[in-house]
Amino acid sequence: MVEAPGPQASGPAQDQSPSLLQVRGLVQRFGGLAAVDGVDLDVHKGQIYSVIGPNGAGKTTVFNVITGIYKPTAGEIIFDGASIAGMKPDKLVRRGITRTFQNIRLFNNMTVLENVLVGQHIELPTDVISALFRLPNYRRAETKAEQRAIDLLGFFGPEMVARKDEYAVNLSYAERRRVEIARALGSRPQLMLLDEPTAGMNDAETAEAITYIQRLRKEFNLTILLIEHKLQVTMGISDRIAVLDYGKKIAEGIPAEIQRNERVIEAYLGRKAAVE
Ligand SMILES: Nc1ncnc2c1ncn2[C@@H]1O[C@H](COP(=O)(O)OP(=O)(O)OP(=O)(O)O)[C@@H](O)[C@H]1O
Ligand SMILES: [Mg+2]
Repeated sequence: MVEAPGPQASGPAQDQSPSLLQVRGLVQRFGGLAAVDGVDLDVHKGQIYSVIGPNGAGKTTVFNVITGIYKPTAGEIIFDGASIAGMKPDKLVRRGITRTFQNIRLFNNMTVLENVLVGQHIELPTDVISALFRLPNYRRAETKAEQRAIDLLGFFGPEMVARKDEYAVNLSYAERRRVEIARALGSRPQLMLLDEPTAGMNDAETAEAITYIQRLRKEFNLTILLIEHKLQVTMGISDRIAVLDYGKKIAEGIPAEIQRNERVIEAYLGRKAAVE
């Protein structure tokens, strides 16, 4: 069992802080299936906001819609005051939304550093001539991007920097999760969506991840939207939790409220306990 810090350690982000992301009546249909069925979310600046629920509840689909992978069937998404529903992923990255994936998506045959650099492509000069002939402005930007990629790896400690020239395929699972986060930081996001960031980790790695997710919020001034199955993680670090079941939000509140919510116990904790 991993010990998570209590709610008092979860920082200053309260509901009074300004709203950063509002989701209203979100619906995502795949054929006859409403994977997301009328979900509302209110995420305030600086919060760690978790989305939990049984397998297939629609959590990842909510992330996929917010990050522009799908155009929602219905509903509204307001980010930083602007409507973003249906915007393409690259545009959303430029607006400050970044993510990691439930199934880690790194380029296995590229080095750690190259993988992290991918996250910064929006800051390199985009004209073909500069890139093709590696003009001084391009080289300068490249050197700067490399230094920044090293700094981002440094967030996880010198041992991650030491791995920078290793091929991603040779890293441990926990290390790959870190590289994915370092890459996601490259675009200087305001909002980071983490889809099961501790999946596949042992207790010690999970405890470490809990610590660095909290540090991420603080050191990069981030708002974090988190999908997480391990309740010791969500209950310990979330300011608020929304619970999905069959595409619908069945509960929302602070961790203590969620823990004693009858519908949640029935739909999620109960089923999970029954399995275990
Ligand atoms: N592209 C798609 N096409 C068709 N059905 C999909 C698609 N993506 C997701 N679904 C379906 O939508 C439902 C919700 O899936 P989703 O991946 O959002 O669940 P989840 O809550 O993230 O589950 P898990 O905890 O297993 O990751 C599932 O029934 C899934 O099979
Ligand atoms: Mg999922």
